[in-house]
Amino acid sequence: MKILSIETSCDETACAVIEDGRKVLANTIASQIDIHAKTGGVVPEVAAREHVLKMIPVLDECLEEAECSWDDIDALAITRGPGLISSLIIGTETANVISYVKEKPLIPVQHITGHIYSNWLGHDEEIKFPLLVLTVSGGHNEIILMRDHHHFEVLGESRDDAAGEAFDKVARILGLGYPGGPIISKVALDGDSSAYSLPQAMLEKGSMDFSFSGLKTAVLNEVKRYGSEKGLKDESEIDDKFKADIAASFQEAVNEVLAKKLLIAYEKYPEVKEVHIAGGVSANTRLREIVKEVFPDDVKLRCPGKISFCTDNAAMIGASAYYLYKLDPGKYLPKTNITPTTSFEIG
Ligand code: KG4
Ligand code: ZN
Repeated sequence: MKILSIETSCDETACAVIEDGRKVLANTIASQIDIHAKTGGVVPEVAAREHVLKMIPVLDECLEEAECSWDDIDALAITRGPGLISSLIIGTETANVISYVKEKPLIPVQHITGHIYSNWLGHDEEIKFPLLVLTVSGGHNEIILMRDHHHFEVLGESRDDAAGEAFDKVARILGLGYPGGPIISKVALDGDSSAYSLPQAMLEKGSMDFSFSGLKTAVLNEVKRYGSEKGLKDESEIDDKFKADIAASFQEAVNEVLAKKLLIAYEKYPEVKEVHIAGGVSANTRLREIVKEVFPDDVKLRCPGKISFCTDNAAMIGASAYYLYKLDPGKYLPKTNITPTTSFEIG
């Protein structure tokens, strides 16, 4: 079964063609990073206008790369939410029109379930339930127990800033640019992760929730202290050694909390057969290393097979859609009208 999927929840205009939920025939993305780097973050109005400009060219390119015509496509998938409503609406309206005109069933997908299914992409190894997944993105963090396909039990979630958001805010404090995650991880390569002792909020005993706002404030306080000691005018005068050390210390603190919380979940559910990480922050090499370090060797760990599957993409939406479809094929009909939503709850 071939699904053409569309993702426009934030600042990537993305389309993919996925066969049987796992084989990626095309995964096309028009990134807006260069545009939003100028403003240090996503301006929703600007993102929406870019989606309007890029949607059709990305669709065309995707079908061409997949060597598919519309007749080859069995169903469509679309990210319904959560996300920026003005961005989502460009994708949902495009999908609605195609579903109407080409008479294809349309499958609405919750964005975070897409991240979760990114671990199914690009290989055909059996994935065994029950499994645990840590989702770490720009706007959300969760630890989820999956006993079967599309069966999500949320064990823990972010109480304030998500991990990716903390990376982005710390990068801004250090004047490093947007998006913060990839830049912090690059700068941290030259730093000493034990240079600064930063707080790791473990919250109540056994809690699998996350809180990173205190860590972000601790970084801000270190930067202010350093700035006043050195008499700096602004962050552009911070030297590279300080930036590298604070970035490395911050990255270590975030990743250690993420890995320790995931381990708490694993110890609580020893029947778990696999442990996954997904979402933009799962691209972080140090996170992958730390998770490997804290887990026993015999635990099956999985992270997305390509960096492009970690950050927002449409391939993961197609994977999630395929497993939804398999659960109830009769539910998805042609000429469907999907409305976008900012809610996490999508039926
Ligand atoms: O999952 P994602 O692409 O979008 C959301 O659904 O939010 O995640 C984006 C987040 C951004 O905050 C970005 O800074 C972070 O993922 N990110 C990283 C890395 N690459 C992207 N964080 C840490 N290390 C990375 N290499
Ligand atoms: Zn995302």
